[in-house]
Amino acid sequence: MHEDGHPARLVSARAREEERLFEQSLRPRTLAEFVGQEAVKERLAIFLEACRARGEQLDHVLLYGPPGLGKTTLAYILATEMGVGLRATSGPAVERAGDMVAILTNLQEREILFIDEIHRLNRKAEETLYPAVEDFVFDWVSGKGPTARTNRIRLNRFTLVGATTRAGLLTSPLRDRFGIIVHLDFYGPAELMQIVLRAASILGVEIEREAAREVAQRARGTPRVANRLLRRLRDYAQVRADGVITLKVAREGLELLEVDGAGLDRVDQEMLRAIISKYGGGPVGLTTLAASIGEDPDTIEEVYEPYLLKKGFLQRTPRGRMVTPLAYRHLGLEPPGRQLDFFSER
Ligand SMILES: Nc1ncnc2c1ncn2[C@@H]1O[C@H](COP(=O)(O)OP(=O)(O)OP(=O)(O)O)[C@@H](O)[C@H]1O
Ligand SMILES: [Mg+2]
Repeated sequence: MHEDGHPARLVSARAREEERLFEQSLRPRTLAEFVGQEAVKERLAIFLEACRARGEQLDHVLLYGPPGLGKTTLAYILATEMGVGLRATSGPAVERAGDMVAILTNLQEREILFIDEIHRLNRKAEETLYPAVEDFVFDWVSGKGPTARTNRIRLNRFTLVGATTRAGLLTSPLRDRFGIIVHLDFYGPAELMQIVLRAASILGVEIEREAAREVAQRARGTPRVANRLLRRLRDYAQVRADGVITLKVAREGLELLEVDGAGLDRVDQEMLRAIISKYGGGPVGLTTLAASIGEDPDTIEEVYEPYLLKKGFLQRTPRGRMVTPLAYRHLGLEPPGRQLDFFSER
């Protein structure tokens, strides 16, 4: 239990586990329960129906998009909808080609192999996957020199479902082997409100519609964030307001959580402010920026930046990241260039 003997790490491991269980309890099980992403759902429903009618396995599916938008959820939904099993692993977990072989040879007919963070597969493991997904075979060489021969093992016809936050990091041979590519984009406020209300009813939390709307607007377009905010507000309401999340309680609670009106959290705000105060609004390179706010560059690129780009607060240029006039105004600052306009107008 206390194997690493580090209290902080122990607490965070426990918190992570609790968070995982919390997410699992709110995870939609069927396509019908999955809120929003209508175009994606419609497309998947058609593929599912066709495969079920033919009694075949589903084509390989790549799910990509920022964290917390429902990639893992959709992978499990596909298995449920197909009525098949799912084996889950992740890119970094498959260390050697042999690990991949063991997984592949154990797959049942039509089963789903879910590989999370598939962009982090090593080259050997990835290359083992190519003939497996293409022809459902696995080739291996036995013997050496003139007596060497290639052996071929037939695999069951399975479905590979890969998930990644970084489709750009996928090699093209791997990407080309997916028949169905699903891009998940940020959710709109109406969809997020529905997600908040759904989660509240599962958790038995009383929340006013206006409060749910407020949470939805500040959830960074992300179901995971919406659910997390709801959980924090439930605690806040319990301590401060007889357990009911009213609009007033939601606003106070969100302020306490340092989530601003546009849904930016402390790190988002810190990043924009750093670009403004230290780099004159940019452009600034990703690594420099990361170092100046003490964050990991990958985390900035995967977690923080996509939403700021989407909101138009940040721009990517060949020379680095720049904040936009909109970001200045959002932070209550005067965008630069006003002065230039002032002079050029005379
Ligand atoms: N469309 C949706 N409707 C309702 N709830 C959703 C939806 N999408 C996601 N959620 C909720 O958000 C949580 C996070 O989703 P999920 O774990 O599938 O995200 P992810 O894209 O796999 O994230 P990551 O990139 O971090 O692995 C889920 O537990 C679920 O409760
Ligand atoms: Mg996931």
